[in-house]
Amino acid sequence: MGKPLVSVLFCCLGNICRSPTAHGVFQAKVTQQGMASSIYTDSCGTGGWHVGEPPDARATTAARQRGYDLSSLRARQVQADDFQRFDYILAMDHQNLQDLTAMCPGNYAGRLGLFLPFAESALEEEVPDPYYGGAHGFSHVLDLVEAASDGLLREIARAHPVR
Ligand code: 4NP
Repeated sequence: MGKPLVSVLFCCLGNICRSPTAHGVFQAKVTQQGMASSIYTDSCGTGGWHVGEPPDARATTAARQRGYDLSSLRARQVQADDFQRFDYILAMDHQNLQDLTAMCPGNYAGRLGLFLPFAESALEEEVPDPYYGGAHGFSHVLDLVEAASDGLLREIARAHPVR
């Protein structure tokens, strides 16, 4: 198998709630569409507090209820070579984007953006941090992430037609 055509990195603060949810949901949709050999997916956090940990149990449970398996994911912190390795580096909120922008070499800044605006009917720009709330916050994250993943897949198919 050759090098994937497109690589996508989802980023939040801790890499235990929002970005692993995006990673698992988007990966599942990529696989369902038969695009697993063309699109490489990963996730990371701007912070390092949870490095090596699996996703938050509330995120794993909420995802499992919709058929997504997050159990094999482990948190990592963003690193300098991510900016050259990934074509799309998508932040969950404005603070994450600001922190990524501060680290990113200028020639790669066009790879950075917010994830949620890829959702067709998005009214908000941010996936809200569910860490300090209850289970409802995690199911809301899934609603947003599913919609944005569908939009991102459409955008990638449009921008990178398989020849
Ligand atoms: P995430 O949520 O950025 O969606 O993974 C958080 C996880 C951990 C913390 C904050 C947000 N924390 O402060 O440890």
